Amino acid sequence: MREPAFVQRFVADAAAVRQELLRGLASSPARVAPKFFYDLLGSRLFDAITALDEYYPTRTEAALFAAHAGDMARACGTGRPLVDLGAGNCAKAASLFPALAPSQYVAVDISVDFLRDALTALQQRHPALPMLGLGLDFSAALDLPDAVMPAPRTLFYPGSSIGNFTPDEALALLRRMHAACDGGALLIGVDGVKDTAVLEAAYDDPLGVTAAFNLNLLRHVNALIGSDFDPRRWRHVAFFDAAASRIEMHLEAREAQTVCWPGGERRFAAGERVHTENSCKYLPGDFEALLHDAGFRRARRWSDDRGWFHVFAAQA
Ligand SMILES: C[S@@+](CC[C@H](N)C(=O)[O-])C[C@H]1O[C@@H](n2cnc3c(N)ncnc32)[C@H](O)[C@@H]1O
Repeated sequence: MREPAFVQRFVADAAAVRQELLRGLASSPARVAPKFFYDLLGSRLFDAITALDEYYPTRTEAALFAAHAGDMARACGTGRPLVDLGAGNCAKAASLFPALAPSQYVAVDISVDFLRDALTALQQRHPALPMLGLGLDFSAALDLPDAVMPAPRTLFYPGSSIGNFTPDEALALLRRMHAACDGGALLIGVDGVKDTAVLEAAYDDPLGVTAAFNLNLLRHVNALIGSDFDPRRWRHVAFFDAAASRIEMHLEAREAQTVCWPGGERRFAAGERVHTENSCKYLPGDFEALLHDAGFRRARRWSDDRGWFHVFAAQA
């Protein structure tokens, strides 16, 4: 049985992670970055979200890949290393293997245990394709190790995860991606602006799977800093802020409470919130301008008939 190679850069620098979390919990309003959704359970809950009727992004993007894989491969180039940022279950990249014919598949994710399982299973299905798992927080830096085959590379960032960054942060991340492509191309999925009811249902489903995903962040934070958040004392809140063109997710205190951790505590009033996620929604022209500002050229776009979701390919 062939095992994929694995490089672990996100060796939980416990002190830095703790500092980042404590800074966010001390701020007003309190905030925790969405990357902290993803421990093993968080990754499994995200997979469950993608199966919900209300969560259109995954199936809309997957349909675009299925319909236009050949065109996308012509736009990006074939036979290159494929670097999948926030690979999760690796399914979207795998669906493009026949068209992109990558020389190497590099799956990058902060949720290392989940990635290891997904990549090991994928390697069995593609024993001849060199695979590398990379445990990395790419919001901090995107320096690829020597084990990643040389340029030109195709960077793949599906799932509209770019929306988790404010437009300024997204521009900085796109610039880092531009450098990592090293003359190759970027293939990226971007969620579009649409009816508020459709957007809000996608982030607040009737089964409560997204609520569980959001609340699980408290469990993960407890594990990371030794805090005593009780998920039963918090509720999931999601709404579309039209002015900022983004879904915001928060956790709202159901009652007044004090949350403690070794060396500190924070008092939350009833109704006070912890901001856990932004998910920015773009008009296609606005995102194309962002790609251009980041140094990408010759952007091509594929959108579904309703204009709900967009996939861009652009040259570095
Ligand atoms: C919304 S999911 C998308 C998963 C998959 N790419 C898809 O499109 O279905 C985001 C993925 O990115 C990973 N992730 C989030 N923030 C990250 C970061 N800062 N560095 C590395 N991986 C990150 C998560 O663990 C998760 O697997």
